[in-house]
Amino acid sequence: MTNKWQPTDWRKKSIEQVPEYPDKKALEKVEKTIKNLPPLVFAGESRKLQKYLADASEGKCFVLQGGDCAESFVDFHPNYIRDTLRVLLQMSVILTFGASMPVIKVSRVAGQFAKPRSEPTEERNGKELESYRGDIINGLDFTEESRTPDPLRMLRAYNQSASTLNLLRALSQGGYADLNQVHRWNLGFVEKNPQGEKYKKIADQISESLSFMEACGVKSETVPEIREMKLFTSHESLLLLYEEALTRIDSTTGKWYDCSAHMLWVGDRTRNIDGAHINFLSGLANPIGLKVGPTLNSDNLLKLIDKLNPKNEKGRLTLIVRLGYDKISKLLPLLLKRIKDEGRNLNWFCDPMHANTIKSSSNYKTRPFKNILKEVELFFDIHKSENTIASGVHFEMTGQEVTECTGGAQEISDEKLGDRYRTHCDPRLNASQALEMAFLTAEALKRIREEKKGTQKNNIAANN
Ligand code: PEP
Ligand code: CO
Repeated sequence: MTNKWQPTDWRKKSIEQVPEYPDKKALEKVEKTIKNLPPLVFAGESRKLQKYLADASEGKCFVLQGGDCAESFVDFHPNYIRDTLRVLLQMSVILTFGASMPVIKVSRVAGQFAKPRSEPTEERNGKELESYRGDIINGLDFTEESRTPDPLRMLRAYNQSASTLNLLRALSQGGYADLNQVHRWNLGFVEKNPQGEKYKKIADQISESLSFMEACGVKSETVPEIREMKLFTSHESLLLLYEEALTRIDSTTGKWYDCSAHMLWVGDRTRNIDGAHINFLSGLANPIGLKVGPTLNSDNLLKLIDKLNPKNEKGRLTLIVRLGYDKISKLLPLLLKRIKDEGRNLNWFCDPMHANTIKSSSNYKTRPFKNILKEVELFFDIHKSENTIASGVHFEMTGQEVTECTGGAQEISDEKLGDRYRTHCDPRLNASQALEMAFLTAEALKRIREEKKGTQKNNIAANN
């Protein structure tokens, strides 16, 4: 990062996935307004997250990143925010058990509005319009008016993000996130679930641990760590006009922070090393994520790493790997070996959603639960074989009982997808599928931990 970098530098670079706004005057006015609005998060909080991420890269904690594919204006309701937070909390209790270490929660919320699209336009019955690019840019309705980029949407997204964050902060610190309470919700899930028996063992062990802690005097009334949770926010840094307007100099360090979220990532479609998005992220002091898809080879990955984290700082850069259940075994070992050999400090997260999207026979975009799980399991197995650290998972999920991903214990079939298919963009795990995924991920993490311990014991015995 150089001191000379400015948040406007990206404007001189080529840019992908960002539309032309027809009304330039209105756009400038909105940008000016947002530049004067309060930051949504503080630089000190982003620094704290970087510290946790540095710990995660050393295997001292684990990260759960998750939330909606795309937030929307119509789904803005306190119950939705609460329900997504609840699932995130429930998953994190289960994962804490599997990983046997603290789980840091990073939500995809309060800013996750802009979407990259595979096609710039969409055609229906012979009519062609601009693709929907997320509620911060244009509307989902298939009309000329709705699909025209409207700068005022940025203001609405900012306001929605501010009130979402306000509720999240209140819920996470006001008693709602109490560990005991959250685990009680999990017991409800286990009882109701058709395959609940499978999860009962983990749930019982968590209950035992909580009772033991309470017997030792570790209670929520006295220990804030049990009563409160630390929650961070993140989203894809796609609409740079919005991100630039919320980028401010931190008075403590003199560095630039994008105060729209604690962590920002660059998507798989906009990671061109000479492009606008990489230029923008390279100058920020926030922790940064980079999506790693199957077309990124280890040479180009290394160049991107050095551009985004030239000082090789711990916790600064997270690679969010989304290779697909059928490709990960071939591609990930090559990347892990190369990065390890080159001594780069970074985190490896698994996003098992984005390379496992298919079209169902009923013509819905969907993701089979078993393929998502397979990619997660392979991710951990490969890290174990390469002796590298898998430090987080990244899911698209919702607190609602939607029918968007097939399979899971509820056995959602292709024919059932139409029942409650509500996403504005990609198919999400519903609340039950998200919890089931957490139980199965915890099992995988625990198995690997025990195998590792077994190997260490054998090595000690062999050396004695
Ligand atoms: C996303 O995370 O919603 C997304 C579009 O991801 P990717 O860039 O990995 O395709
Ligand atoms: Co998505």
